[in-house]
Amino acid sequence: MTRQDQMTIWAYLRAMYEDTYGTLKWCWDEFVNEKAKRFIKTVLIFGLLSRVVSLIYPWLMGLGIDGVIAKDDRVWQMAIVGTALTYVIGALLEWRQGRGIELTLGENLRRLDRRINELFFSKELGLHLQEGSLLTQSNMEKGYNRFHGVQCSILFGGIDSFLTLVITWVMLMVISPVAGGVVFVFLVVNLFISLFLNRFVMVAMEPVEALFRKINRRRNERWEGVERVVTSGCTSREVEEMDADFDHALVGDRRIWLRYIRGAPIRSILAGLAVTACFAYALYEASMGRMSFAKVAAILTWSGMASQQMRFLARVEREINWAVPSLKSLREALMLPTEVNDVPDAVELQNAPVRVEFSAVSHTYERANGSDGKPPRQVLRDLSFTIEPGETVALIGPSGGGKSTVTKLLQRYTDPTSGEIRVCGHDLRLVKQDSWRRLVAYIPQKAQVFDGTLRDNLLYGLSNEQRVGVTDEKIWSFMKRLGVDFGGRLSDGLDTRVGRHGMKLSGGEAQRVMIVAAALRSPQLMIIDEATSSLDAENQAAVQQGLHRVLEGEASALIIAHRLSTILACDKFVVLRPVDGLKDGDCQVEAVAYSPQELYQTSPTFRRLADLEGVKIAI
Ligand SMILES: Nc1ncnc2c1ncn2[C@@H]1O[C@H](COP(=O)(O)OP(=O)(O)OP(=O)(O)O)[C@@H](O)[C@H]1O
Ligand SMILES: [Mg+2]
Repeated sequence: MTRQDQMTIWAYLRAMYEDTYGTLKWCWDEFVNEKAKRFIKTVLIFGLLSRVVSLIYPWLMGLGIDGVIAKDDRVWQMAIVGTALTYVIGALLEWRQGRGIELTLGENLRRLDRRINELFFSKELGLHLQEGSLLTQSNMEKGYNRFHGVQCSILFGGIDSFLTLVITWVMLMVISPVAGGVVFVFLVVNLFISLFLNRFVMVAMEPVEALFRKINRRRNERWEGVERVVTSGCTSREVEEMDADFDHALVGDRRIWLRYIRGAPIRSILAGLAVTACFAYALYEASMGRMSFAKVAAILTWSGMASQQMRFLARVEREINWAVPSLKSLREALMLPTEVNDVPDAVELQNAPVRVEFSAVSHTYERANGSDGKPPRQVLRDLSFTIEPGETVALIGPSGGGKSTVTKLLQRYTDPTSGEIRVCGHDLRLVKQDSWRRLVAYIPQKAQVFDGTLRDNLLYGLSNEQRVGVTDEKIWSFMKRLGVDFGGRLSDGLDTRVGRHGMKLSGGEAQRVMIVAAALRSPQLMIIDEATSSLDAENQAAVQQGLHRVLEGEASALIIAHRLSTILACDKFVVLRPVDGLKDGDCQVEAVAYSPQELYQTSPTFRRLADLEGVKIAI
């Protein structure tokens, strides 16, 4: 073996520790709680006892034969009673073990479900929305299923096989160190074969696993977007392309596993040789009159069982190998370091009018891996403006100019690359996120309605205590005040079911649900990103008026709209230019004005957009 090979094996062992052991250890720490550990202890104890009891049987059988040969009635009668007892006791122990397994499975799944939820939701939105993010539904589901697969195969087979192997080997060592030694050598050789095969699988599986991840991502997206697939006439193309992708991945996958199972005959032959060696030794000793039948029977059965357990364990090992890449990717996703965290002694904001100040804020989105080494793109540069308490500010700018990015930074999806956002005089990074979120209501560009009733959706952002105070009358009056009118379309009033993703609602209705839900939270700052874009002109005007009515109090608002007609009633207007077109020294804020008339005079962008839209600004 060359030094290079030795290095590779050491490097492999280290990688295996980090990858396989590290991943399984992480799963154990994250998904197995104290209660489950107690259940596992019962499984181990009862499993151990049940294995010991069942392994006594071959010895008793041999003892019975010895008794018959020696014409000792008591011995063979005791052997019969002992055999019956091992079955009865074994059955009781197995029942206790099975109970422990079921309790462990349930407890682990509960914990797994909870931890995935906790960790998934704890990541800042910036991480979720990053290109190539591992925080995808398919990644989570795959990790979840593989964890369950691994725990089933360990609990239902692995533990038993492992215990049987250890006990048979220890018992062999006790009754015949020679047979024990033969089995030991076989185990060590088997272990080395496993190490080599695992090393191969681990290295080769990485790119194949990435391919499968990509396929899953695409499949999930296309299933979700079935409407676009069908209406674009792409059904057959999608099926064919996905099949071709799968085929490609399968070729790699098969190459790995076929090579892996090529190791199986070697292991079986070795096992056979070990059993034969024990057999030959035991029979030779018996023929020389140095070994009783009790021992011969025990050696033959136990050595056979030990080698059989290696086969079972190889199956468990294959299951683990198969699962580790997905578990690793689950671990990577859930362990992504969050950058948006509450600092120690973060400021708790009180429910009071807020003032927001953007001070020289710049932002650059990191490029994802595989973006061909293109430099990261700056979206905001030295952006400064304020939203005073009670002020309704319209943010205007061309598409891609960074308006939605402003709303994301304000909600701490991520922190700005440089500059500062101050709320109520505090740097937003030093404020408790929960206390800030309580004050803010956000209406996104795309409505996000959940399956359930209309009422569920409207009350979604309210705490349980807040919900108690919101009667149906209050909801209806809120809707009236907002100018939200569902007409006679609600079959069941507030109990109308909206369907998955709100599919039973029109685009405009879904937007209205989002608007009412946001307003019901009585926020101090409302962030509205083109919320009325899917309403017709009449409803848009009504809802806009309603929104301004809601915002008449001390609440502030940041409103983004493409259609200028919808924001003319705002108190302040901030016009953004895209960073790409800026020359050195240019400010990204093209104009700040307090009336459409003033804006029309000071902002060429606004003038151009207003003229294009045919909005008449009386000067
Ligand atoms: N998560 C992201 N990762 C990388 N780039 C992004 C990300 N989100 C937005 N961008 C880029 O930042 C730029 C500004 O996007 P943003 O959504 O803020 O624009 P916008 O002004 O809201 O546009 P629109 O009016 O079309 O909604 C765009 O060029 C967009 O491609
Ligand atoms: Mg936008």
